[in-house]
Amino acid sequence: MTIPSQTLVTAHPVQDATWWRQAAVYQIYPRSFSDSNGDGLGDIRGITAKVPYLQRLGIDAVWLSPFYPSALADGGYDVDDYRNVDRRLGTLDDFDEMVSALHDAGIKLIVDIVPNHSSNRHAWFREALASPKGSAARERYIFRDGKGTNGELPPSDWESVFGGPAWDRVTEPDGTSGQWYLHLFATEQPDFNWENPEVRQDFLKTLRFWSDRGVDGFRIDVAHALMKDLREPLPAWADMPAEDETTDGTHPFWDRDEVHEIYAGWRALFNEYDPPRTAVAEAWVHADRRGRYARAEGLGQAFNFDLLQSAYDAGQFREIITRNLAESEVTGAPSTWVFSNHDVVRHATRYGLPKGPGRNGPAHAWLMSGGTEPVLDRELGTRRARAASLLMLALPGSSYLYQGEELGLHEVVEIPDTDRQDPTFFRNPGSEIGRDGCRVPLPWTAEGVALGFGATAAHLPQPAWFSSYAVAVQEEQDGSTLGLYREALALRRSLQSDEQLKWVDEPNAQVLHFVRPNGWHSVTNFAPEPVPLPAGTVLISSSPLAEGKLPADTTAWII
Ligand code: GLC
Repeated sequence: MTIPSQTLVTAHPVQDATWWRQAAVYQIYPRSFSDSNGDGLGDIRGITAKVPYLQRLGIDAVWLSPFYPSALADGGYDVDDYRNVDRRLGTLDDFDEMVSALHDAGIKLIVDIVPNHSSNRHAWFREALASPKGSAARERYIFRDGKGTNGELPPSDWESVFGGPAWDRVTEPDGTSGQWYLHLFATEQPDFNWENPEVRQDFLKTLRFWSDRGVDGFRIDVAHALMKDLREPLPAWADMPAEDETTDGTHPFWDRDEVHEIYAGWRALFNEYDPPRTAVAEAWVHADRRGRYARAEGLGQAFNFDLLQSAYDAGQFREIITRNLAESEVTGAPSTWVFSNHDVVRHATRYGLPKGPGRNGPAHAWLMSGGTEPVLDRELGTRRARAASLLMLALPGSSYLYQGEELGLHEVVEIPDTDRQDPTFFRNPGSEIGRDGCRVPLPWTAEGVALGFGATAAHLPQPAWFSSYAVAVQEEQDGSTLGLYREALALRRSLQSDEQLKWVDEPNAQVLHFVRPNGWHSVTNFAPEPVPLPAGTVLISSSPLAEGKLPADTTAWII
């Protein structure tokens, strides 16, 4: 039979199932983005109102950190109800409106899923506390009898990621001290028992719930911790390797092989949708094991935190990029790049401090000294962050940007103790300040009680210097960081090509130069002296050129 040509016109535009492979994804920490109702807390309508801003910025997708009902014991990563919106942030209708507005603007939406633990206010945990030892309700979490004559000692000496013990004792319904439950994070975040079929079913339901509402993908929180081997004897804390050191899946809770069965099930569900829902694992695992999370039969993509953990250093950057692209070739999963997120000190600040190893390196000492030691060179940090971000945006794979980095925002250190919210601050008195400094609400305008964030003071205080970074200020400023991001993202979109890169060796090892298959060059000068530029047209540079040369700490794109 011949089909008349007009019936071949599809009712819906053809969806590109590969959109995520080289997307620029912008992370929104919703309580600190934009407050539409003046309660000091950012909300869903606030995001909807800023869709034109996001569209103008030129991102492909938003990754939305948790917006679910929560007591905010861990910034929303303590979820009371996985299929609802926090009342203070809005309603499901507001959520649907936001999805439509984003989609109308051509922006996809990735939401955060927190499967390792719920909050202690989740209906299931309340039920577990009200139910006896050995009950089905307790089986959804990880309850154990304590050690010692009366069970007064925890089942093991394990420490929580946020400091302090990983076990807490409960009071039984009859008022006596009873069993202990495991929480790898805060006390308010009891770990689920993923051996339990009810837990598995419920998460499938949640993934379907949001997928049916039009969500395009998921970011999986602590994706490497779900499965646990808690057979006695539990190893002593001192004998256990660090989170990202195990390479054989034998750690009692980090990166066990069985976790991938769960993700295979999730992938089957994601693939029922058109286009298939995407997923990215937050898995702080050994680099050799990351590919398991990223494979096509699994989540499809995994965060690579290597650049985020690296010092600003040409050699380290080159090695990290080469290694991750080689891994991509093997797994077929595109790489992910990221410098900043809601868990780490902003990269503009990290790069303004002396070089040092580790996720937060010298930034930790700086935070603990109240921002005096070591001395922060704010200008240098900003300059380097701009160079690094421009380099990142030229790499094959997807780039994850964190709200405020497009303004060149620095970490806020001057938060009074009484305003701090992060559990790591409360669980480590005197030795940790926590992550609030990168979560301070965005400055939209130079004036106003909350610098345009909302009509009342923001839930974390904004310092006076934030006003000079405001969106409205940068929109009027030549050479602003916001202008740089907008221009770079627009160019990236038009230049994007095959997921490959070739290094071009430069006489100076402090100069990183690579070219994409379509002739798109990116050159970064990490050296203190200006260096000559390769031939071609300069499309953009992170700082002005110096008499036709590429100055220190600057990236340029050339075609
Ligand atoms: C992830 C989140 C972090 C949170 C933790 C516990 O690492 O990024 O913000 O505190 O998981 O859910």
